[in-house]
Amino acid sequence: MIKTVLVTGGAGYIGSHTTLALLLAGFNVVVLDNLCNASPESLRRVAQLSDREPVFEKGDIRDRALLDKLLAQHPVQAVLHFAGLKSVGESVAYPLRYYDNNVGGTVTLCQAMAAAGVFTLVFSSSATVYGDPATVPITEDQPAGHTTNPYGRSKFMVEQLLGDLAASDPRWRVALLRYFNPVGAHESGLIGEDPHGIPNNLLPYITQVAVGKLPELAVFGNDYQTIDGTGVRDYIHVVDLAQGHLAALKELLTRTGTHVWNLGTGQGYSVLQVVQAFKAASGQPIPYRTVPRRPGDIAACYADPAKAAAELGWSAKRDLFTMMSDSWRWQKMNPDGYRSGND
Ligand code: NAD
Ligand code: UFG
Repeated sequence: MIKTVLVTGGAGYIGSHTTLALLLAGFNVVVLDNLCNASPESLRRVAQLSDREPVFEKGDIRDRALLDKLLAQHPVQAVLHFAGLKSVGESVAYPLRYYDNNVGGTVTLCQAMAAAGVFTLVFSSSATVYGDPATVPITEDQPAGHTTNPYGRSKFMVEQLLGDLAASDPRWRVALLRYFNPVGAHESGLIGEDPHGIPNNLLPYITQVAVGKLPELAVFGNDYQTIDGTGVRDYIHVVDLAQGHLAALKELLTRTGTHVWNLGTGQGYSVLQVVQAFKAASGQPIPYRTVPRRPGDIAACYADPAKAAAELGWSAKRDLFTMMSDSWRWQKMNPDGYRSGND
């Protein structure tokens, strides 16, 4: 039985939703986050929603002494590892930050875990490790590693180092969860995605256009080989994603070694389909203009989620309309993210 978990990056977008799900499921949660891309307000709201307090330590996964202290203070039996940097463009400009934080940070975390006798780890990987897939939907056995940027390479390197580690010592139990495109927010509208500056990703960009913070959406290319020429992705509700982590944690009780699971819905939607769905869910039209393709983007990326369904007993439940209405509720209630303070 796992009772207490360490959640690195637990104040962030996916980490905060997963921390909430863990608390509601009865786990004790210790969050370690350096707040480089998060606000402590997210955890205050998680406590409000769950009526339980996670332990929060502000600090860095690269700080070995801090990790040793945390693992000595709390009876941690497993780690959910979200902490990392995630901006593709920034990773091209500052690759060493990405290798230091994402790869170096994971090495330090694993060293501290092994020293403390904790060998169960759930890692936030990404569909980006598949690069430009030969076929869709993507199964876990499709070749990975043809990544196009330092962020993607850092994710693939961590997958490999965790594989080497698990091969070296049979006590390790590792889940590599390859997320597709997380969107949406908790149905309360109290927690959600809070990007700093102008968003890179489609959904936060759309919601900021809807709320009047940005004038129009730039659609990156309409000449892909897709249903309407715009890029197709597998958008997955962040609350479904959070549930996938609980399912993976449970499954790791029965397995050792490294295991890969896609976390997606299996359904691809184009940019224009998302714009239409957002309008239907929110009543807000989204002015848009087509511009050239964004370098590095691919035409279509969506999961075959059958392995997760069969082995984890997990599948995504929330449809595109729910993803859009929950994103919109979060944006409306928090026009300036956690800085709004109007919960
Ligand atoms: P996020 O930025 O909201 O969360 C990451 C959290 O980690 C933040 O709270 C940040 O403050 C913290 N952090 C970063 N470096 C740290 C360090 N060295 N020590 C301690 N804390 C640190 O991002 P997210 O969208 O919640 O993503 C979580 C994880 O999932 C990341 O590893 C990301 O690469 C991965 N992922 C995200 C997506 C996506 O589209 N959101 C897709 C695939 C994979
Ligand atoms: N798009 C636009 N306009 C925008 C933003 C995005 O047209 O302003 C389009 C993109 O071209 C793409 C789709 O919307 O077709 C989704 O783009 P996102 O930036 O939201 O997501 P990506 O699929 O490009 O990337 C995401 C994460 C990456 C991760 C990748 C694979 O941001 O970190 O999924 O998991 F690597």
